[in-house]
Amino acid sequence: MADPKKLFIKTYGCQMNVHDSERMAEVLAGEGYVPTATADDADMVLLNTCHIREKASEKLFSDLGRLRPLKSANPDLKIAVAGCVAQAEGAEIIRRMPLVDLVVGPQSYHRLPAMLRATGPVVDTEFPPEDKFDHLPQRKGSRGPTAFLTVQEGCDKFCAFCVVPYTRGSEVSRPAVRILTEARDLVSRGVREITLLGQNVNAWHGSEGGLGRLIRDLALIEGLARIRYTTSHPNDMSDDLIAAHGDVPQLMPYLHLPVQSGSDRILKAMNRKHTADHYLRLVDRIRAVRPDILLSSDFIVGFPGETDTDFAATMALIRTVGYGAAFSFRYSPRPGTPAALKPAVPSDVADARLQALQALVTAQQHAAQDAMVGCETTVLYEKPGRMPGQWTGKSEHLQAVHVEDPNGQAGLIVPVRIIAASTNSLAGRRLD
Ligand code: SAH
Ligand code: SF4
Ligand code: F3S
Repeated sequence: MADPKKLFIKTYGCQMNVHDSERMAEVLAGEGYVPTATADDADMVLLNTCHIREKASEKLFSDLGRLRPLKSANPDLKIAVAGCVAQAEGAEIIRRMPLVDLVVGPQSYHRLPAMLRATGPVVDTEFPPEDKFDHLPQRKGSRGPTAFLTVQEGCDKFCAFCVVPYTRGSEVSRPAVRILTEARDLVSRGVREITLLGQNVNAWHGSEGGLGRLIRDLALIEGLARIRYTTSHPNDMSDDLIAAHGDVPQLMPYLHLPVQSGSDRILKAMNRKHTADHYLRLVDRIRAVRPDILLSSDFIVGFPGETDTDFAATMALIRTVGYGAAFSFRYSPRPGTPAALKPAVPSDVADARLQALQALVTAQQHAAQDAMVGCETTVLYEKPGRMPGQWTGKSEHLQAVHVEDPNGQAGLIVPVRIIAASTNSLAGRRLD
């Protein structure tokens, strides 16, 4: 048998990309590629890219520049660009960087084997009529204790700042039966926690009843101990999905619910189609059924037209909600989006706002971590810790927890008491 070829994948962007990278590695395994940890000895380098902000997409071109010496030393090295920059820029990537052999979009990567057989550079950024999931290889072997499962892709929301509706296309929901079959299969391979993925995961409508119904059906799978979903949009939090947070024990008490801004004027300009008050009422309803839920959000500062008063409204919203974590970004104008045509907020103003916002959410994150000390929770062990005899995993609230446990093993869910907290992790003592 020929020596296996080596594949190096670098993933940028969101969890959907992390999942897609795994699936692409599986597709390429069928072509004789095995993973390698560095580009230096690879036969193929695959960059799975993100287009969300300018920095993210420019990163691709600087990384491609760095691959030049490798390609000169080994002209057989294949360089592939996948993901959202591939979708947005297509053949333009090869024009700018002729060392690229292959450009493949997020909906066409099941076609990689055929693309590899083509001679010369190939570009496939179609939204094909066939469902890529029907053409991806069956997943084999045992798996780690946590897994992503894509239930929905694409976005029809068209927030004024965002490229995702263009790079991922319109909303498509996978059918419930396929999702349930995939979930059962994952559980039979050792998975105990599934995170349902979608660009607008709670807009899933693969069967009647929406995501709440799907979560209730998934909760019937024996051995599936934990369910999460991300990313949700405030306008798609149905009554039943909110209720599920109260009555499905497997649905974990952590919810990423991006609001972007606390100013109604800016929310309107962003085309978010909800107000700050609508969001706050939603938070109240979710907390009414699950008081200990930890919330996180995304924020954009310096959106065109944002005044000090608008920014103050965002800070006020953050104070009112109290987040366990938050991701905040300076607005980045993106080609083809309506907001990109508007005059920018001066960058020093936007920077100062970003710093102030980050200081506030960091303080809230500290407080949420500290509040765990003394509490009982469960931890799903994922991997051995850095110290011998230590295991690390996630709490129900998605916090990293280290536990001294010489008898630990991956996939075990143990009751712990939290005994110490730092910004990014907790220490727990096993109770059973
Ligand atoms: N589908 C998800 C998030 C997609 S992108 C949602 O609707 O929430 C992740 C985050 O990137 C967004 O929530 C937003 O905060 C940020 N983002 C998107 N476009 C951006 C831009 N042009 N500039 C800065 N941040 C942006
Ligand atoms: Fe982008 Fe808005 Fe869609 Fe989220 S909901 S992916 S921010 S357009
Ligand atoms: Fe980035 Fe595309 Fe995800 S733009 S955030 S990789 S959907």
